[in-house]
Parts: sequence; structure tokens; C-alpha cells
Amino acid sequence: MARQRIDSVREHFDGEATIFDARVVRMVPHYREMLETMIAAIPFPTSKSVRAADLGCGTGTVAWLVKERFRKARITCIDFAPNMLALARRRLGPAAEFDLGDLHTYSFKGTYDAMLSSLVLHHVKAGPEKAALFRRIHGALAKGGVFLNTDIFTSRDRAVARMQLDKWAEFILRSYPRCEVQRNYRRYKQEDRPADPQEELVALRKAGFHHVEMLWKYYNFGTYIAVK
Ligand SMILES: C[S@@+](CC[C@H](N)C(=O)[O-])C[C@H]1O[C@@H](n2cnc3c(N)ncnc32)[C@H](O)[C@@H]1O
Repeated sequence: MARQRIDSVREHFDGEATIFDARVVRMVPHYREMLETMIAAIPFPTSKSVRAADLGCGTGTVAWLVKERFRKARITCIDFAPNMLALARRRLGPAAEFDLGDLHTYSFKGTYDAMLSSLVLHHVKAGPEKAALFRRIHGALAKGGVFLNTDIFTSRDRAVARMQLDKWAEFILRSYPRCEVQRNYRRYKQEDRPADPQEELVALRKAGFHHVEMLWKYYNFGTYIAVK
């Protein structure tokens, strides 16, 4: 793992924790819709005490939405940025447990029915480290459990990848001046390692998931489900 890049990701989110919620809806197209797709895809009765984990919870938005649909859910929120985790704790209080940890090396402590992640795993480079993380996620899920992931992806095809970035820029320009698009692009190049979605689905199958499917997609953003 490129330690310097990972440290810079953590510092970035730690430093911007208090403005994250206001910013994400202006930087990420259909943010709310993607999260709602994940929540709707959790295949259990709403009365179940679902055991859930929010990987890279940030301020706890995903965990909060899980709790809205599954009142009796028991949720573990994991993040490596202390300021993000503090905001999640403030938001969810005793409704969840909180663990400071880096997903590159994190050992899941429980067994879960649903593991969810939003806009996090593009920080983990595709290859052996991501494959190992997928195996750990698979290992921590109960049989029939689901892994739901919303993320930034890219395409192996350069022209398609370029078009997707142009569409992302168009969206950011609705709220911010062009210098923000340029700043975001520099940070994207430095910090992000998005995967090709088709390759990611293959990696999930190799990790043991028996059904994987892209549920929702908008240019370089998407949500998938992987069923154990
Ligand atoms: C873009 S934010 C998304 C937050 C939240 N999931 C959401 O969608 O609102 C990415 C979050 O992932 C966390 N993160 C990134 N890489 C991580 C890693 N390797 N281990 C744990 N947390 C990580 C960051 O600290 C940050 O809180």
C-alpha cells in the first residue's frame, strides 16, 4: 500500500469533516439516490435486528439510513479519520458502535447480515489488497448476507473514462467555479484509485460471492450488490 497516499486521504477527510455533508451533495451526482438504492437492496424484513457495518462511515449517513429502515439494527461504524468518526458518533449516539480503523488491515470483529460502504473503496487500489479486503468482507458476512457498495469507478476505455469525468465536471460546475473542478481533479489523480466496475465484479466473485450485480449506475458512479 502506498502509505503516503493513504495518509493524505485520511488527513483530507479529517480536515474537511465538518463541511463534508454540505459538500458531498454538490460534488457527487445523485448521492442520495445511490445510498437509497443500497438501503432498499438490503433483503431482510424491516423488523429484523439486522447486524450491519458501515465501512468508511464518514459522518454516519449510511448507518443513519440503515437505522431508519431497520429500527432494531445493530450497526458498527468504521472509519480511519477520527474527526469523521466523532461526527458519526454525535449523529448516531448509542444506536451504533464506532471503531477507528484502516480498512486495508482492519479485522472485522463480528458477523454481519449487511455490510455497506459508500465512496470509500476507490481509495483501495484494485489488486491483492482489495482482493484481501473483499475476502475479509465475505468472511465477516453471515450466509445470505449482502455487501452493498456505492463508489466512484472508471473505465478501461480511455475515451469512455474521459467522457465520464467530463460529465462529473458538468455536475460540479452547477455549484462551484471551474477552479473547484480543477482542484477536485488534482485530488482525484493523487488520492483515488477507482476500479473498472466489470473487473471489480470479477474480483468479488473470486472472493467467494455467489451473486454480484450492478444495481445503479450514472457515468463513473455506481452501486452494486454482492451476495454471500
Ligand atoms: C467520501 S467519504 C464517504 C463517507 C460516507 N461513507 C458517505 O458516503 O457519506 C470517505 C470516507 O472513507 C474514509 N476512508 C477512506 N479510506 C479509508 C480506509 N482505508 N479505512 C477507513 N476509512 C477510510 C474517510 O475517512 C472518509 O470518512
